[in-house]
Amino acid sequence: MKHPQTVWVTGASSGLGLHTARALRDAGWTVIAGARSFPEPAEKDGMHLLPLDVTREESVRDFCDRALEISPWVAAVVHCAGILVLGSCEETTTEEFRRVMDTNFLGMVRVNRQALPLMRAQGEGRIVMFSSINGLMGIPFQDAYTASKHAVEGYAEGLQLETRKFGIQVMLVEPGDHRSGSDKYRHHAESMGPDSPYAEDYRRATAKIHEDETHGSDPDRLGRKVARALGKGRMPFRKRIASPDQHLAVYLHRFLPARWNEAILRSYYRGGKG
Ligand SMILES: NC(=O)c1ccc[n+]([C@@H]2O[C@H](COP(=O)([O-])OP(=O)(O)OC[C@H]3O[C@@H](n4cnc5c(N)ncnc54)[C@H](OP(=O)(O)O)[C@@H]3O)[C@@H](O)[C@H]2O)c1
Repeated sequence: MKHPQTVWVTGASSGLGLHTARALRDAGWTVIAGARSFPEPAEKDGMHLLPLDVTREESVRDFCDRALEISPWVAAVVHCAGILVLGSCEETTTEEFRRVMDTNFLGMVRVNRQALPLMRAQGEGRIVMFSSINGLMGIPFQDAYTASKHAVEGYAEGLQLETRKFGIQVMLVEPGDHRSGSDKYRHHAESMGPDSPYAEDYRRATAKIHEDETHGSDPDRLGRKVARALGKGRMPFRKRIASPDQHLAVYLHRFLPARWNEAILRSYYRGGKG
């Protein structure tokens, strides 16, 4: 790249966003990190920290204005901001679905709407969106999250088709479980109580989800992989970073008949018989 390697990273206060921001910094990028828990502009650990709430247009605009004061060139945007609400389709409220979509999907849309005109004028730019294995397949009781990540996947395909001619490259990062996520961003839908008709399945499935995350892959390694991909002349459109069994799950989901997949996943999450 001919211009300064400045990257904006959303959701960079914890988890995979923080690990990715650090890996990019170590690879020589100027990192402008955004999150709600950065109360005011600051410089820390070799990164520029700016307040950012991706659910608020005004906050996104302020973030972009301040980022442009630090560096007028935006070589890349990495979208990591995300939340998870666990709950059944039936009991998760519309408001809870809205909150997840607003952060995980519309948050990317808002930031991209600021970054795209800049990148188009530059004649180049890179947009990296954190999807998930759940962007490719559903699992029980992560329905709002799964829906938001499927939205990201479809949006990214259209975005790449529209913007390639302006020199913009798009990459979807599809992580499997990583031991990084903080409990602060994992909420149980409010109405999921002991009287829920799903209570026993929910208990088993969320225990399994928790176990998978606890034994998940190394977040530092993921950060380095994303930084390496961003440093290449041409990024892959999809970068799945997952354990071999999660790669296998995606492969089976794609090629097996739907009822076989259902049987495998129900048995895995012990969500019911037959
Ligand atoms: N961890 C995994 O195993 C895994 C697997 C697949 C995909 N992912 C994806 O990777 C990304 C990071 O997840 P994580 O689990 O590693 O991180 P996490 O620890 O749960 O952190 C989430 C980040 O998002 C930020 N955030 C939440 N709401 C925000 C908002 N409205 N505006 C700005 N920032 C906001 C949080 O910062 P503030 O609260 O300070 O704003 C925090 O930095 C997410 O997109 C997630 O879906 C993670």
